[in-house]
Amino acid sequence: MALLKVFDPCAICLLCLVLSASELCNGGITGNFLRKEYSPDMPLDSDVFQVPPGYNAPQQIAGFLNHDRGVIISWITPDEPGSDTVLYWSENSKHKNRAEGIFVRYKFFNYTSGYIHHCTIKNLEYNTKYMYEIGIGYTIRRFWFKTPPRTGPAVPYTFGLIGDLGQTHDSNVTLTYYESNPEKGKTVLFLGDLSYSNDYPFHDNTRWDTWGRFLERNAAYQPWIWTAGNHELDFVLNLYEETTPFKPYMHRYYVPYASSHSTSPLWYSIKRGSAYLIVLSSYSAYGKSTPQYKWLRDELPKVDRSTTPWLIVLMHCPIYTSNWHHFMEGETMRVVFESWFVKYKVDVVFSGHVHAYERSKRISNIAYNIMNGMCTPVDDQSAPVYITIGDGGNHDGPAIGMVEPQPSFSAYREASFGHGIFDIKSRTHAYFSWHRNQDGYAVEADSFWFHNSYWNPLGKSFVAQY
Ligand SMILES: *[C@@H]1O[C@H](CO)[C@@H](O)[C@H](O)[C@H]1NC(C)=O
Ligand SMILES: *[C@@H]1O[C@H](CO)[C@@H](O)[C@H](O)[C@H]1NC(C)=O
Repeated sequence: MALLKVFDPCAICLLCLVLSASELCNGGITGNFLRKEYSPDMPLDSDVFQVPPGYNAPQQIAGFLNHDRGVIISWITPDEPGSDTVLYWSENSKHKNRAEGIFVRYKFFNYTSGYIHHCTIKNLEYNTKYMYEIGIGYTIRRFWFKTPPRTGPAVPYTFGLIGDLGQTHDSNVTLTYYESNPEKGKTVLFLGDLSYSNDYPFHDNTRWDTWGRFLERNAAYQPWIWTAGNHELDFVLNLYEETTPFKPYMHRYYVPYASSHSTSPLWYSIKRGSAYLIVLSSYSAYGKSTPQYKWLRDELPKVDRSTTPWLIVLMHCPIYTSNWHHFMEGETMRVVFESWFVKYKVDVVFSGHVHAYERSKRISNIAYNIMNGMCTPVDDQSAPVYITIGDGGNHDGPAIGMVEPQPSFSAYREASFGHGIFDIKSRTHAYFSWHRNQDGYAVEADSFWFHNSYWNPLGKSFVAQY
């Protein structure tokens, strides 16, 4: 027993702190770029916030992909309900099909939203470009989207990754760089914290509208997979009793949660190409017996890796970070879900929240049970890689304070703004790259080849030892 004590990881950790310059304990690379100042929000009269011309013209168009060859198109008409109809046709056809949607509204303190339309289009062809139109008379606006290839084990597909975007000049640079990236992301996995309107006096919800207009130039043409962050909570007790969490977010952005047997839009799953995406809510209950816990427990065994080899989890708050900003905030979710991530061989967990970039090694901390002292994450080839991309460029600026020395679980970290690309090449390989805003958009500041955890694992299971 005494011998074991010597190798207690906690003791090693302590040793680390003492020998702070120790090579042994240092993790990977810490990028040394330091942004001097961060930019304020773009002013209300910016080009990106322009209201489209014409009375009641549809604005803030955004797409969300649905299960089973469908999309959800959302838009807002400011003055009156207008039309709920979307006309759509495939590129090679002249026949216009119709889909009918619904509209909702909400009030927040003294703000009343416009008419928020959501229209589901079903039974589209795979891998096809569709044109679509919304609006009436001279306010008709036309966009297009492309449907994904049929789900299958070897289907290549490229995801973009953006988190914590906000609406500053830096946010605009991040979006522009994502759009210019030659890797051409086809769907954005958005990691939470959208508009930051809650940072304005009285949670000024007109900033949700400006954000929706800013995003339209991208979101009208490709789906954004939404993850809820803390800035979506919009919960205010003292002043004006807005106590329904996620009210603006859930009225504005619709996700097909029911088709994945979820009872809440805050957690759900969706298939795309060869990927199975699971979205979790860091700000909804997830302890044992809660709806989210039960849903995930039942969902993970359903993932069939022979049709969707890539298993990707999205959540706002990272469960591994070595940044002092939000340090340990994800610990409770780690305790509840991490062993499942290892058991089901999740390939990668993407998060936002921390306004910096960080990539972990494959590590787990599932052996720790409070009494055994095994409190340091260990190398575990069955465990996911954890990637934090909370660096979209919002007005809080980058999170620069990092835990020193860099913990051994951290492979690369840097407090720069940027976006990521997750490029699935085959059943067994995917290439991840991180592109920071201070470089050219094609420059990769960090990259990593993923070997599929199920089909091409690099090592034997660590969990098998327990
Ligand atoms: C935002 O970026 C777009 C595309 O690069 C550019 O056309 C536009 O002028 C920018 N707007 C602001 C306010 O920076
Ligand atoms: C809402 O109330 C705030 C504070 O009284 C005020 O500044 C703002 O103009 C009001 N907005 C609307 C739409 O009435």
